[in-house]
Amino acid sequence: MKESLVKQAIEVLENNHQDGGFTIPAQGLYPFQWKWDSGFIAIGYAHYDMGKAMQELASLLNAQWGNGFIPHIVFHYDSDTYFPGPDFHRSQLHPLASKKLRSTGLVQPPVLGFVLEKLYEVSNRNPTVLGFIDDQIDKVYENHVYFYENRDINNEGLVYIYHNWESGTDNSPMWDDIWPTMNPPEYEFERKDTTHVDPSQRPTKREYDHYLYIIEIAKQYNYDDAKIAQHSPFLVLDPLFNAMLLRSNEALIKLYGLLKRGEGKAQYLKEKHALGVQGMNTKLYHESSGAYLHFDLRSNTLLPYISSSSFAPLYAGVPSGERAQQLIQTLKEKFGGEDKYLCASFDPTHEKFNPKKYWRGPVWINMNWIIYQGLKRYGFEDLATRVKNESIELVAKHSFYEYFDCRKVNPDGDSNAYGGNNFSWTASLLIDFLNED
Ligand code: SER
Repeated sequence: MKESLVKQAIEVLENNHQDGGFTIPAQGLYPFQWKWDSGFIAIGYAHYDMGKAMQELASLLNAQWGNGFIPHIVFHYDSDTYFPGPDFHRSQLHPLASKKLRSTGLVQPPVLGFVLEKLYEVSNRNPTVLGFIDDQIDKVYENHVYFYENRDINNEGLVYIYHNWESGTDNSPMWDDIWPTMNPPEYEFERKDTTHVDPSQRPTKREYDHYLYIIEIAKQYNYDDAKIAQHSPFLVLDPLFNAMLLRSNEALIKLYGLLKRGEGKAQYLKEKHALGVQGMNTKLYHESSGAYLHFDLRSNTLLPYISSSSFAPLYAGVPSGERAQQLIQTLKEKFGGEDKYLCASFDPTHEKFNPKKYWRGPVWINMNWIIYQGLKRYGFEDLATRVKNESIELVAKHSFYEYFDCRKVNPDGDSNAYGGNNFSWTASLLIDFLNED
């Protein structure tokens, strides 16, 4: 089974690979290069074509802005299968936006540091890969500096996101409390995602109005970070986003050590890192939920929802041993029943849980990969093995879908696999899981 699954996964990646040296997440539905997708995709390539892995990251980093910003989508070409495209985002309004490549003015979780480290590990410490890291690492470092210097408004080592698309968990129920604080116009636009995927598995039109509205505000201020921090109706400290930044800090510090250079840069990251770990544990941990939660900087409160993002800090080594035990308890009790695959993207015991709708409940393979790494880091081997095996089982049973139903018995009797098929990070991370054995 392993060989045939790896073969199929490689086929998915090869079919989604583009001549420009980057990989789209899925045909039709996502026809450009997405930031965190590219990071996870490079991990899959590393196992069988290191040249493509390096090219994937280089092509993303080629779109970096003058201020270190790395965008969430790079529009390498035009496509009429996706909305909103470059003409809506107009990121060139920012004076330091890339002059070479069009992009959005949004970011996505900062995975590139630990992806560089992973490439080096998978290559068995190959000097060519280290040379590639030497060429690229300063760009990733500059990206971290961008975050700390522009998005840590309280100087607490935690950086904000100003849009739900920046979280990666687009339509999670945790944003539901934020939407009523805005009253966007009813925009007229043509959705494209709902022509590729059953609309019941995607965000609603009214949700999209809010998504576009926040970007309209950012555009009004030419994507200026300080103005966004002042005026955006959406301003959140996300435990997933910040955990990815912290885990990538660790990786960059280690890689600068291997390269025997960048002491000042490593020192900067170490200081921010220590502040961020402390910030997460004081500001984002909610004792009675036994989980890390999102902090809404507008209402100055924690958003009271547990999601798969709540467990991401394990991967960055954020919780103490005791706190990690509490997290595991929450994971087991709420997400880990015998009747469920790990790990639903939103609390399955909550009334807002929806097992089929994008980030409102389904299992995502990239989140399982992050949680798996975190469980292993803390020595929760049995649970880690369960997450890995269930990820493999879901894909083996249902193919390389974007997201999966966590219910082992689905009363509706439908396919249990939703969103786009032949989805790149499902394929690439499956390759990584299977290569561990
Ligand atoms: N994931 C978003 C979408 O569905 C954008 O990042 O288009």
